[in-house]
Amino acid sequence: MKVFVAGGAGYIGSICVEELLNAGHEVTVFDNLSEGHRVAVDERAQFIDGCLSERQTTLDAVSSCGAEAVMHFAAFAQVGESMADPSKYFRNNVANGINLLDAAVEADVKKFVFSSTAATYGMPDAVPITELEPQKPINPYGESKLMFETILNWYHELHRLEFVAFRYFNAAGCSERLGEERRVETHLIPNVLRVALGQKEECRIFGTDYPTPDGTCIRDYIHIIDLAQAHMLALAPGKCGFYNLGNGEGYSVLEVIETCRQVTGQPIPAVQEPRRPGDPARLIACSQKAIDDLGWKPRYATLEQIVDSAWRWHSAHPNGYTG
Ligand code: UFG
Repeated sequence: MKVFVAGGAGYIGSICVEELLNAGHEVTVFDNLSEGHRVAVDERAQFIDGCLSERQTTLDAVSSCGAEAVMHFAAFAQVGESMADPSKYFRNNVANGINLLDAAVEADVKKFVFSSTAATYGMPDAVPITELEPQKPINPYGESKLMFETILNWYHELHRLEFVAFRYFNAAGCSERLGEERRVETHLIPNVLRVALGQKEECRIFGTDYPTPDGTCIRDYIHIIDLAQAHMLALAPGKCGFYNLGNGEGYSVLEVIETCRQVTGQPIPAVQEPRRPGDPARLIACSQKAIDDLGWKPRYATLEQIVDSAWRWHSAHPNGYTG
């Protein structure tokens, strides 16, 4: 298919682009490089330096490339920043995203695939979390993604736009060529690996008094390539709806750090710090719906495989893309 990928220069988008191209799709990447990296865009893809805030540019770009499917990764995704600057999140993740939706309708695209998040669930009442769990976001980031889900559903009702929205749990790991590099890094695994690389003296454990077996937060880590595979399955005609993407296994912050020690062979000192505001104690996905409806089969489901792929990329690119 001809696939238009907004945000295809970012961490998740760039690796999905690589997998789409490997599977024989034709890809146009649309990205303003505010968070993404030009070198992360696969050479086989066409690249347009554009911003979703520019409505006419977005409409023209989607129609001129003959897109049959649109994938939307172009959003801000830092919870803490969204609490300090909600306007930035609602403006980009909601308002600018509507330009892309309108472009998809105008160009009569067959499928719209949207990156949503487990952050739409807020503090869940129970784990594992199914798609039927109430969505009660606790920060503007999660709220902005939930608002876009709602809008997407209306576009489906009113314009017959077929969509798949994936609620990602903790995307992690790297491909051989592409990795995780952000201008401001807040995520656990890349920060812990920086210590293993000798770029930081110690990693930080945010909160040791949660109601979990070792007192640290539990998350469900999903390999980026498994996540990308789900996006390709979503392109099949007739697939439509909301899907969780996770492995159904939870690992605590201490378990992640210990796995990083084993994979890297480095001691990785860690310091205990107070809780980070807004962190739920436990987020674990039930992804049975994606397995049953889409035929999704995660291939790199263990934390060791995920950390190992991340370590291979980070140790080969100690200065990220800029190096
Ligand atoms: N953590 C630390 N030290 C760090 C970084 C993180 O202890 O240096 C802890 C956090 O407090 C949290 C856990 O590690 O308990 C995971 O934190 P991340 O920042 O790696 O990821 P989050 O779970 O906060 O968020 C990610 C995505 C969100 C998504 C969420 C869904 O960034 O977009 O997963 O599970 F909503």
